[in-house]
Amino acid sequence: MPSQLLATKSIDKLISESEQPEHRLKKTLGPWSLTALGIGAIIGSGIFVLTGTAAAGEHFEVPSLLHAQVMDLIVSLVRHGTISGVIMHGRPPAGPAIAISFLLVAVACSFAGLCYAELASMIPIAGSAYTYSYATLGEIFAWIIGWDLILEYAVSNVAVAVGFAGYLKAQLAQFGLVLPDAWSSPVWASGKWTGAYFNLPGFLVVFVLTILLVRGVRESAETNNIMVAVKVGAILVFLVVGGMLVRTPNWVPFAPSGFGGIVTGGAIIFFTYIGFDSVSTAAEEARLPQKDIPFGIIVSLIVCTVLYVGVALVLLGMMRYSTFGSGAAAEAPVAYALKELGAHPVFRTIIIIGALTGMLSSLLVFQYGQTRIWFAMSRDGLLPRVFSAVHKRFKTPHWSTWIAGFAVGIPSGLVDIGDAADLSNIGTLFAFVLVSLGVIFLRRMQPGRPRAFRVPLVPWFPLMAVVLCGGLMTGLTVITWIRFFVWLGIGLVIYIFYSRRHSEFASN
Ligand code: ALA
Repeated sequence: MPSQLLATKSIDKLISESEQPEHRLKKTLGPWSLTALGIGAIIGSGIFVLTGTAAAGEHFEVPSLLHAQVMDLIVSLVRHGTISGVIMHGRPPAGPAIAISFLLVAVACSFAGLCYAELASMIPIAGSAYTYSYATLGEIFAWIIGWDLILEYAVSNVAVAVGFAGYLKAQLAQFGLVLPDAWSSPVWASGKWTGAYFNLPGFLVVFVLTILLVRGVRESAETNNIMVAVKVGAILVFLVVGGMLVRTPNWVPFAPSGFGGIVTGGAIIFFTYIGFDSVSTAAEEARLPQKDIPFGIIVSLIVCTVLYVGVALVLLGMMRYSTFGSGAAAEAPVAYALKELGAHPVFRTIIIIGALTGMLSSLLVFQYGQTRIWFAMSRDGLLPRVFSAVHKRFKTPHWSTWIAGFAVGIPSGLVDIGDAADLSNIGTLFAFVLVSLGVIFLRRMQPGRPRAFRVPLVPWFPLMAVVLCGGLMTGLTVITWIRFFVWLGIGLVIYIFYSRRHSEFASN
């Protein structure tokens, strides 16, 4: 039994299995398509929603330990031996210094990105961090990470779909069509019931994309390229139009909560970077994975960082950071600021339609990535076979795609973006920590295996990723940590009662 928990798949076997005709995916993606895939995944609704809320902070009427940040608790315990001075009313505002949070998080992601790139270039197989950990750390770690990646893909898509619904509502209102709140807002938000019945636009967008994915629509790299061009274009238009509405006094105070606020803000807006690693999930479909995967990851990270810092500075120069705390200003801050400051409706429409397009392309890539991870886990016996069934005509994993569609669509109709994004952040950061440790292990265990891309200064770079990502995890609240452990607990139960018995390493 212990030997099964730590059993690792041989990298050669992983590669040869993926070559079996019934499981083979088409190899069609080049370096720029992969970069576009990365940008398509990275820029979703996060930059358009969380920039405002992270800058404004969060305030709950009733204090609770659940709302305290883990880092605050640790620091207070170490320094004063008590948690009595810890803020329990919510998160401190980052203010315009959220722009610095974006830079810091980009640095953390770059270290993790390099680790992803090394492993992806050694093991060019669908499944991302799941596959890497099966080859390096052992079956139990592979399971934990595969299960954890559901938070990164499916749960983050819940957040993106909710953000999409918020902006769609704002845009339809501009066209004179006002959606009833009861059918277009989260049912549960900021720790309480809102009185709404269901967020129908959030559900429907996922449902429609699922139909397209089942039919293999993602295979058109051109469509993704166009969507990426549109959303990057929309951000550039915002930088110009919004830039002209900036009033520099809004940048003062720049960092109202000091470095603590910058880290807390970073833990929230980390969400906006989620997705660069999804480039590696497409390794099996890349023409030259060894070179093109690292390229796609790093270039897409750089492009997004430049755009994000720009959006943060402009948005928080347009209006005071505290404006974005609640209501329409929190749901769709970019749309709100442009409207309040009287930007021309044509520019507003261009920017919002571009943003919506961006969210669609992000949703598409994540729904796709989720199914491919399940596909890999099912091929290994850790999930039922149905997850790796390929549709005869469309050549897509249709069952996985439908299951992912409902698993994401239904919660999108219920929760708000903040809760979904926090849970997704903690899961993704944890995956990054494990992947970075995996690089160090594999360098020791298999030093001779060819690596088309090597992380410089191992073990220091991977350790930087571990420390920075771990640090960001502590910027999240106690309730998020509890949800995360509950999620891992459910995963372990499934592993013990199903996956362990169906794995190829099972002894019976
Ligand atoms: N990075 C994606 C977003 O910002 C998930 O929406």
